[in-house]
Amino acid sequence: MAKDDEGRLSEAEIAVHWKEEAVYRPSTKFVGQANLSDPAVRERFAEKNFPECYREFADLLTWDKYWTQTLDTSKAPFWKWFVGGRLNVSYNCIDRHLGQYRNKAAIVWVSEDENEPDQVLTFQELYVRVNEMAAYLRDFCGLKTGDRVTIHMPMVPELPITMLACARIGVIHSVVFGGFSGEACGTRIHDSQSRILISMDGYYRSGKLLDHKVNADIAVKKAAEEGTKVEKVLVWKRFRDKSASPTPMVEGRDFIVNDGLKAFRGKRVEPVSMPAEAPLFLMYTSGSTGKPKGCQHSTGGYLSYVAGTSKWVQDIHPTDVYWCMADIGWITGHSYIVYGPLALAATTVMYEGVPTFPDPGRPWRIAERLGVNIFHTSPTAIRSLRKVGPDEPAKYNIHFKCMTTVGEPIEPEAWKWYYDNVGKGEAAITDTWWQTETGGFLCTTIPGLDPMKPGSAGPPFLGIYPIIYDEKGQEIPPGAGRAGNICIRNPWPGIFQTIWGDADRFVKNYYAKYNHKPGSTDWHDWPYFAGDGAVWAPDGYLRILGRVDDVINVAGHRLGTKEIESACLTVPEIAEAAVVPVVDAERGRVPEVYVSLKPGVKPEGVAEKVSKAIETVIGKIARPRVVRIVPDMPKTRSGKIMRRVLASISNQMDYGDITTLANPEVVEQIRVQVQGAGPVTHKAGPSDIKEFGKDV
Ligand code: WTA
Repeated sequence: MAKDDEGRLSEAEIAVHWKEEAVYRPSTKFVGQANLSDPAVRERFAEKNFPECYREFADLLTWDKYWTQTLDTSKAPFWKWFVGGRLNVSYNCIDRHLGQYRNKAAIVWVSEDENEPDQVLTFQELYVRVNEMAAYLRDFCGLKTGDRVTIHMPMVPELPITMLACARIGVIHSVVFGGFSGEACGTRIHDSQSRILISMDGYYRSGKLLDHKVNADIAVKKAAEEGTKVEKVLVWKRFRDKSASPTPMVEGRDFIVNDGLKAFRGKRVEPVSMPAEAPLFLMYTSGSTGKPKGCQHSTGGYLSYVAGTSKWVQDIHPTDVYWCMADIGWITGHSYIVYGPLALAATTVMYEGVPTFPDPGRPWRIAERLGVNIFHTSPTAIRSLRKVGPDEPAKYNIHFKCMTTVGEPIEPEAWKWYYDNVGKGEAAITDTWWQTETGGFLCTTIPGLDPMKPGSAGPPFLGIYPIIYDEKGQEIPPGAGRAGNICIRNPWPGIFQTIWGDADRFVKNYYAKYNHKPGSTDWHDWPYFAGDGAVWAPDGYLRILGRVDDVINVAGHRLGTKEIESACLTVPEIAEAAVVPVVDAERGRVPEVYVSLKPGVKPEGVAEKVSKAIETVIGKIARPRVVRIVPDMPKTRSGKIMRRVLASISNQMDYGDITTLANPEVVEQIRVQVQGAGPVTHKAGPSDIKEFGKDV
């Protein structure tokens, strides 16, 4: 390994000890029906055919006016795709399907309450409701093309209806995850300068009916404090015949949408023909520092990219019943619950609640009842279902033809459980690596073409040309056995256009690191810096090691937290593991390990086993200072483990704000276990430990 002048390993040398897994092949039955199984596609998307190759994506859409220039790089790195083209997203997701699929289910919504009937929206019904909502937004709220609205809603059909209504009239939506606090929503309202907030009175979560309207009031107050006045708050009703919230409506500011829509019954709104590069939506995401960034996504480039990835990676056909168990409030939900599947005329399933409510058989009951044949979820959900209901999938008559995972690296142990138990050995799995910023998948296998390798995202997707650099800008080639910073050398249609209101930060965060010619209009000079560590195997498969700042530097060795966590999961007793860096005078940082156990397992001897496993799989360098067995991990509402909270506890610091967690009560329990019952010994100083990873 390369060493710097003082003989230390350079920062970019992330130690990679993870062995490559054997591959699995998709069944001939799957390949036989797959949308894409012709290997010639790789040649068509070879670099020499870039950017024209992306015509195949654009041709999945219906254009009002066909585009004239595939890629305009004249304002690099502010790329413009399909220049000169015009289209409407709601037309592409709804109207154009009516001829063939008018009476087919577009959205099947499942309440968390098992006694409440599903809501099934056919394409015709969706068309009617989106038109009425578009008329209401335009004529009652005075919204026009280019305005922003903030949508803070739970998982109900009214959410995609509202998004598609915005798209119909060219209004830019900014959906804030329903589980975020009112304050977080208020900050985003201000940043996007929305004068309309769309909310809902309440919704179910873990069996409880939550008051959500109260968050709207907090959001409006927070936005006002920051300098943005919300003129109207539009409140959808969770129930037809009663209110789900005790919070009063504010006269002249708050309006019940369901009542307001009555005046617009049967109204039709002509879809506004938008330029391909017009913004479609903003999606806020947090980096390791600074305020959330409003990632701005385009109309034509984005929609063609999510349609293409949905078709060729998720293998969605109009006849499939597709269920992505994410929340629409995240990019996954935008791209792969709403826009990608609907652009392909799929039936997309939406579930309101918690996957393990009221028991861990719930997802499989839903899948069995609705005949779901494509399933999309996250490693976190997989680990949690494996932890609490390892034998549940076997009890149901479920048969997925393909399944996907997204959001974080998946440990081979969890992958194999997913493959054997949920997929019953029949389903092809794709592990899709991408980000809020990238709009759609970047690295993944194409299930009809490529073998699967547990723990590896796979090769770059069609038209994507990655490169791995070390900190000094030296390329680390495939097969080098070393990891570095993964970048994408070229633009692709799904790439975000800018950070809303902060073009400088956009260039600085994502492009400046490896750009040597700031004025260049040649895309070759602008590698996109993804902020993830990755290692490229000789067979061309990429293993993503997690955020670059998730890396623990132990005595000059950068260890991927995921690597260590994966080692922990090889111990059969372990359900979940989280590794955090602890300040150590001698070694810089040392890992501390938190684990939760599978039900019924006795804790005796387990900590030793975990230490031993880490030593065996990775080496003494990664040996944890301590292995702590905890009842549960602190998690965000989206299910990601809050390593920042655990790191604060381990470093004897105050854990800060935990109000947005799914299970805040577990945090104090862990703190007392680690720090003792007394008060916090010292407050966090900014330089003590870097906040790492994405909190939300
Ligand atoms: C991580 C979610 C490994 C990665 C779509 C990335 C993954 C961040 C994978 C983006 C995967 C996402 N394997 N890591 N298949 N997918 N990540 O913006 O660190 O919420 O940078 O987008 O999640 O998270 P975001």
